[in-house]
Amino acid sequence: MFFQGIYEAYQESQALVESCIGMPHSMSCFATLAASVLLAPQILAASVSAVPAQTFLGIGGSGAWWPYDLYNFPEPARQNLSALLFSQDGLGLSNYRWNIGGGGVNVSNPVRAPETFYVSPGVYDWSADAQGIYFLKQSAAHGVPSLTAFVNSAPASMTSGGASCNGSFVNGTGLEYGTYLADVIAHWRDEGLLIKYISPMNEPDNNFGPSPCGQEGMEVDANQRAEVVNGLYAALDAKGLASTVGILADESSSLSRASSEYSTWLPEVIDKVAALVHHTYDFPSDASYLSYVNSTKSLYPSKDTWMSEICCSLGEANGTGRGWSGGYDPTITNALMFSGMVFQSFVLAGEPRYDFWTLVSNGIGCAPLDDPTCATSANPDGWNDGLIFYDSDYATNGNYELYLTKHFFTYKHFANFVKPGSQRHAITGPGATQTMMAVSTPETYAVIAMNPNTTDTTLTLTFPVTKLRASSAVRTSAEEDFVGIEPAVGSGVSWTLELKAMSLTTYLFERR
Ligand SMILES: *[C@@H]1O[C@H](CO)[C@@H](O)[C@H](O)[C@H]1NC(C)=O
Ligand SMILES: *[C@@H]1O[C@H](CO)[C@@H](O)[C@H](O)[C@H]1NC(C)=O
Ligand SMILES: *[C@@H]1O[C@H](CO)[C@@H](O)[C@H](O)[C@H]1NC(C)=O
Ligand SMILES: *[C@@H]1O[C@H](CO)[C@@H](O)[C@H](O)[C@H]1NC(C)=O
Ligand SMILES: *[C@@H]1O[C@H](CO)[C@@H](O)[C@H](O)[C@H]1NC(C)=O
Ligand SMILES: *[C@@H]1O[C@H](CO)[C@@H](O)[C@H](O)[C@H]1NC(C)=O
Ligand SMILES: *[C@@H]1O[C@H](CO)[C@@H](O)[C@H](O)[C@H]1NC(C)=O
Repeated sequence: MFFQGIYEAYQESQALVESCIGMPHSMSCFATLAASVLLAPQILAASVSAVPAQTFLGIGGSGAWWPYDLYNFPEPARQNLSALLFSQDGLGLSNYRWNIGGGGVNVSNPVRAPETFYVSPGVYDWSADAQGIYFLKQSAAHGVPSLTAFVNSAPASMTSGGASCNGSFVNGTGLEYGTYLADVIAHWRDEGLLIKYISPMNEPDNNFGPSPCGQEGMEVDANQRAEVVNGLYAALDAKGLASTVGILADESSSLSRASSEYSTWLPEVIDKVAALVHHTYDFPSDASYLSYVNSTKSLYPSKDTWMSEICCSLGEANGTGRGWSGGYDPTITNALMFSGMVFQSFVLAGEPRYDFWTLVSNGIGCAPLDDPTCATSANPDGWNDGLIFYDSDYATNGNYELYLTKHFFTYKHFANFVKPGSQRHAITGPGATQTMMAVSTPETYAVIAMNPNTTDTTLTLTFPVTKLRASSAVRTSAEEDFVGIEPAVGSGVSWTLELKAMSLTTYLFERR
């Protein structure tokens, strides 16, 4: 077993130190030793806290805008995609965000123009958006426990510009808008799609204009957000759904935006929102993220904050250089960079839920049928907005292949093992890093740990309990896609975990 090699190398270097002491040529002896220590793997020692930190609500992503295309794929490919996203053999997502379409009026990209159910007040066409509904049903059929509906824009006739973008919410229409959303939720709940949360304004800070727009968007000024929440709450309440369907707000694009605007709208409706959800498109530093969670917690202690959308960054595995940009990087470098962001939300900020953005994308930036290395190599023309990619020319060239990135496999570590109801236990001590955590259930511990460095590391971990059995482990690295490796080695409270260079590994333990 590899770890034994590491441990032996370590013991050997200890023995060498002792053997150098007092030797006549001790300087050259130490020089030889220094070289061998440089090559020797790093050893980190840390402990799993006995006290649970947050209880997780799970891991998810959004159904925008790929359902428009993927609905056109042959049924076996649609089934395969659904299993890749929603079954435990695939990602095993525990939250799916379904986009309630606004009809796409004046959105120039047809893929980003989801149909609307809305015809006129109280009149709906429930056959609209067959694409979105197909994958929403798939998520429910696979047992995804938490379904969220979110909206980029109200139907065109309700917005200030009469379009699905480049306009804003109209004062005085809160109840009308809320009634429309409550009708949509109630209808699909009656059909068995048990939507638990509704987010009525995704990125209210942007109308995504001017027309023609690249996507839907409705600006909701901070001073209008209380009306949106009040109207929706009243409409849900009228249907007896106010305590069943939680309102999420306000999905501001960045933490700085969110916290600077809360005071304008939130105090009035604090009791009507289930959680404060935010995006992290400012790619916050650790200090800014902590300052956001600390100040929000102190001002609104009754509400949790959730990370509900992010995508589209390059950068190094250790997070250096991350920030909003185009570019497609399907390699382990980008997968670890985004994994670092999950750890930032969970370990640093202590948040309970994390959603990536679109899950599936055609932003591959190259033509996979023309270039066999296209899907697996980085290029500057695509976007890191999906975990799974497809050929944007599928309709003409019949290419229905699904291209999985390394990010798919690293996200699977979180989505497979950070389940609703599981709890985080901090890893502390001199060798602890922010990119490692333990996740417990009454039956198991999972240690999810990332090594973004180019040298192998051995983690020696002390647990707060003794009755553990190391059952299995899986790793994602440049060469491995969620591949089974040797379980942790040890006994009692002391265990040794190998963290290969540039990898994300999950070690599983059974509690006996
Ligand atoms: C749609 O966009 C066009 C410009 O492309 C503009 O002239 C028109 O007024 C827009 N329609 C609406 C309803 O906003
Ligand atoms: C976009 O919205 C602005 C502000 O309402 C309006 O003046 C402009 O005409 C709109 N542009 C288009 C192309 O619709
Ligand atoms: C909309 O209503 C809000 C809250 O009352 C108010 O602050 C804002 O000025 C209004 N906006 C317009 C355009 O009337
Ligand atoms: C946030 O709160 C934590 C724990 O209460 C504290 O350790 C940290 O220094 C605070 N950070 C900031 C930036 O306020
Ligand atoms: C992060 O990784 C890059 C690329 O490997 C490296 O140049 C840089 O020194 C690392 N930064 C830190 C803080 O470790
Ligand atoms: C599903 O898609 C994945 C990724 O492209 C592929 O490896 C797998 O063979 C497909 N499975 C089926 C049953 O088509
Ligand atoms: C990665 O390198 C950083 C900076 O040298 C170090 O603090 C950290 O412990 C290393 N992480 C692992 C898992 O080896």
